[in-house]
Parts: sequence; C-alpha cells; structure tokens
Amino acid sequence: MPASQSAAVQTPQTYQPRIFSGIQPSGGLTLGNYLGALKRFVEKQDEGIETIYCMVDMHAITVWQDPAKLRQQTREGAAAFIAAGIDPSRSILFNQSQVSAHAELGWIFSCIARMGWMSRMTQWKDKTAGKNAEAASLGLFAYPALMAADILAYKATMVPVGEDQKQHLELTRDIAIKFNNDYGVDFFPVVEPLIEGAATRVMSLRDGTKKMSKSDPSDQSRINLTDDADTIATKIRKSKTDPLPLPETVDGLKDRPEARNLVNIYAALAGHTVDQVVADFAGAQFGTFKPALADLAVAKLSPITTEMNRLMQDPAEIDRILGHGADRAAALADPILEQVYDITGMIRSRRR
Ligand code: AMP
Ligand code: TRP
Repeated sequence: MPASQSAAVQTPQTYQPRIFSGIQPSGGLTLGNYLGALKRFVEKQDEGIETIYCMVDMHAITVWQDPAKLRQQTREGAAAFIAAGIDPSRSILFNQSQVSAHAELGWIFSCIARMGWMSRMTQWKDKTAGKNAEAASLGLFAYPALMAADILAYKATMVPVGEDQKQHLELTRDIAIKFNNDYGVDFFPVVEPLIEGAATRVMSLRDGTKKMSKSDPSDQSRINLTDDADTIATKIRKSKTDPLPLPETVDGLKDRPEARNLVNIYAALAGHTVDQVVADFAGAQFGTFKPALADLAVAKLSPITTEMNRLMQDPAEIDRILGHGADRAAALADPILEQVYDITGMIRSRRR
C-alpha cells in the first residue's frame, strides 16, 4: 500500500535511543578521528545502544576527490572502524552513497534550512576563508543539510562527535524543529550531541591552536592510523612544545596549548583523567614525557594499524560488510523516508 494511505502523521512520541555518527573518507584517519570519534563509537556500541556508523562518501565529494583514492579511503575507514572494535554484526557499518535515503532527505532538508543558517556555519566560513567562495561547490554550502539527513533518516537521538561538529548538530536540531513546526507534526527527534572525554579536540602537533586534521598539508602535524611505530615516535618526539617542565596542576596548562594537547592525548589514550596525568608527570621535562607518550601511543595504535592492514588485504570482504550494513541501514531509513514524503505531500504510487 502506498505510504500516503498508510502513514498516519505521528503524535507526540518518545524516540528509541539510537546513535548515528559519520566520518568522511576524504583522507586517512588521524589520531583526532580515533580519540574524538572512533574510540567513543566503540564504547557506545559496547554499552549496548543501537549504533549506526557511516563512511560519508557523499560529504567527501563536496571538495574534489580522486575517485580511486576515495574508494580506497572509504575501505580504509571501514577497516579502521572494525580494527578499532566496531563489530559489524552488532553496529550497522556502511557507506552513505549506498543508502539513497540520505540524498533524498538531504534535498528535503535543503528546502527546510535557510541560506542564512548555512552562511553562519564556521566550517563553511573556515573552508572558504581567503579563497573565492564563489568557486566553492554548492554541496559544500549545503553540507549541513545532508548531515542532518544522515542523522534524522534514522531518527537517531544521540550523535558522538568531536567539538568541531557542535554547530552542525545545533543546525540539525534547528532543521528537526522547523520541519516539525512547518508540517505540524512531532516527527523528528531533537538530537543530543555527545561531545565527551579528554580529546574532543585533538590539536596539530605543529601548532597547538590548530585542529589536527587529515587535510593539513603537513604530515608532521598529525598521527595517521596508518603510521608505523617509528613514525609515531618520531612525530611525537619532534612535536612542538615550550621549554617549561609540565606543571603541578591542570591550571598550569592554561596558555600552553601544545603542552595541554599532549597531556590531553595522553589522558585519552590511557583512559585517565587530565588531573591524573598532570599529577603523574608533575615537574617532568618533555624529554621524559614525550617518550612515555610515544610508548603509550604505539601500544594503543599499533594493534589497530596491524589489524587494518590485514583487513585491507581483502577489499572484497570489506565491500561485502559495507553492503550488508547498507541493507540493514536502508531497512530502517526507507520507511521513515516514506513517511516524510507522505507528510510533505508527495505522491508515492509507483510499483517497486
Ligand atoms: P572528519 O574527519 O571531519 O569527517 O571527522 C570525523 C569525526 O572525527 C567527527 O566526529 C569529528 O568531530 C572528529 N574529529 C576530527 N578531527 C578531530 C580532532 N582533531 N579532534 C577530535 N575529534 C576530531
Ligand atoms: N560533518 C562530519 C565531519 O566532518 C561528518 C559527518 C557527516 C557526520 N554526517 C554526519 C558526523 C552525521 C555525525 C553525524 O566530521
């Protein structure tokens, strides 16, 4: 039966707890992605909440991507998820373009969101700063509408992300609220950002005021999940610091962005609080702290890298996992999308 006859507009409802998050396959994953996102994705899965994780390939092409590299990075991202502990039989793991509900709902949200909302996004402003904004893709501008669709296609209620995504999630809430108000329904949940832990914003190893990013031109600025043990140790040893020893209290890290970053990384990798790490290393020189951090980073990351490399030997198996995840994702998203079409007045009478 077409949705127009079956989907009753919903009345106030409680939403089932469901987690969604995504990572762009626009480069190799970094320690920032691992601590700010992946590690926490695994924790959420292990808490027993329904978890849906996505390689957002459609977001990646808002800036130019070489097709062969995009494919490789999508598989590598999926391998990183699995190597870090995502179990594709418990979590749903897939790539965005295989589930058309994302693009379809993204269009509808492009008609809900306002130009003004989009132009206030700091990520848009940063990505076009000093460049010709006229030459940026329309997709880059509309990016947050697609992101809202990623989340709301599943009526996800919680979204674990790093600090940099906070504003996009506020926009997702605004879109949900405006959709509900415009159509007089209580359909989409107002999502809750989960921005937690010591490493919600891992900074560049070369500049403590800049985010560690897969797109930074300097490879020395980041630790990649594909780096071997020697590379990790060298990057940490050479990371920018100041000449002072580590302070006695967390307050002493104020105005020392590079020192604070390394301490935060240590805390997040060790699963300790920042206070604990400061207490353990009070008064230590970087000559002592950096090798300890390098050992810890290698101990935590090497098993993931090794497993990623093993999984990458069999790309067909990764594609199979992504396809299976996409089937499960579509089974959740498609009925929600049908209801959206019904609410918005689209006729859906085609036989399929
Ligand atoms: P992206 O690589 O931009 O697709 O980001 C994927 C996820 O990793 C998002 O949740 C980001 O907030 C998170 N993330 C990216 N870079 C960092 C960073 N330097 N520190 C903490 N989280 C990050
Ligand atoms: N915009 C996010 C980033 O760059 C990636 C992303 C796309 C995402 N869709 C999402 C994150 C949905 C969380 C939920 O990091």
